[in-house]
Amino acid sequence: MADVTFLKTKDLKCHFGGIKAVDGVDFTLEKGEIRAIIGPNGAGKSTFVSLLSGRTEATAGEVEFLGENVTRLPAYKRVRRGIAYTFQITNIYKDFPVIENVAIAVQSRLSNSGEKTGAGRIRAEAEKVLARVGLSQFAERKAGELAYGHQRLLEVGMGLALQPELLILDEPTQGLSDSEVSDFCDLVKEIAQNATILLIEHNMDVVMTLAGRITVLNQGRILAEGSPEDIRANRAVQDAYLGRGDE
Ligand SMILES: Nc1ncnc2c1ncn2[C@@H]1O[C@H](COP(=O)(O)OP(=O)(O)O)[C@@H](O)[C@H]1O
Ligand SMILES: [Mg+2]
Repeated sequence: MADVTFLKTKDLKCHFGGIKAVDGVDFTLEKGEIRAIIGPNGAGKSTFVSLLSGRTEATAGEVEFLGENVTRLPAYKRVRRGIAYTFQITNIYKDFPVIENVAIAVQSRLSNSGEKTGAGRIRAEAEKVLARVGLSQFAERKAGELAYGHQRLLEVGMGLALQPELLILDEPTQGLSDSEVSDFCDLVKEIAQNATILLIEHNMDVVMTLAGRITVLNQGRILAEGSPEDIRANRAVQDAYLGRGDE
């Protein structure tokens, strides 16, 4: 196949009334990257990735995934094409056991791919996923009883269970302890061997550890893009974000 960009947006916009949450973003992501998106609160990061996943509809512009224009595809169809995402707000079935949450995602993947879906196979795959995200000991607990950070990890597991081409993570380390954050970084590196990762993250240590490239959003636009070293040295980024010390 000719060179197809993994993911591309063209002049992508999302306006809520007078609020220009995303305001003309041209963005490309190559297969295999770990890309971080940073920027101050309200910069449009969550809205931008919601446009990629189909959770939010674009006001204008295009999203192209693996050469296909997916701008008007609903979220569930984008999931089938390989785009999985976790939200900033947890999106789990709180009354269901932890393992069931993952099993639902496993079953969804298997039935979409036409594979056999015996209960034993689903359970076994769900257990593997829980082990990867470090939640095996909570398998039978109600998901809503987990600590907030663990609920975020469960969401990552639900995304992983879909075996996505692109995994979008919106502030996944929020609420994790230092040692859990470090385990999470190891997990992301492992996931990145088989998937492309787009990560919204406030913890700059995590960003600098994981990201090959960083995109900085500010007021709905791309302010800067580059290697972690470039971004650290970028004056406009420092002014808008890094130097503020309160993020
Ligand atoms: N559903 C919505 N309706 C109205 N305004 C919204 C909605 N979602 C986000 N916004 C606004 O869009 C801007 C960008 O928000 P968001 O994408 O959540 O930023 P970030 O994730 O970078 O903190 C903010 O001003 C926010 O208040
Ligand atoms: Mg956000």
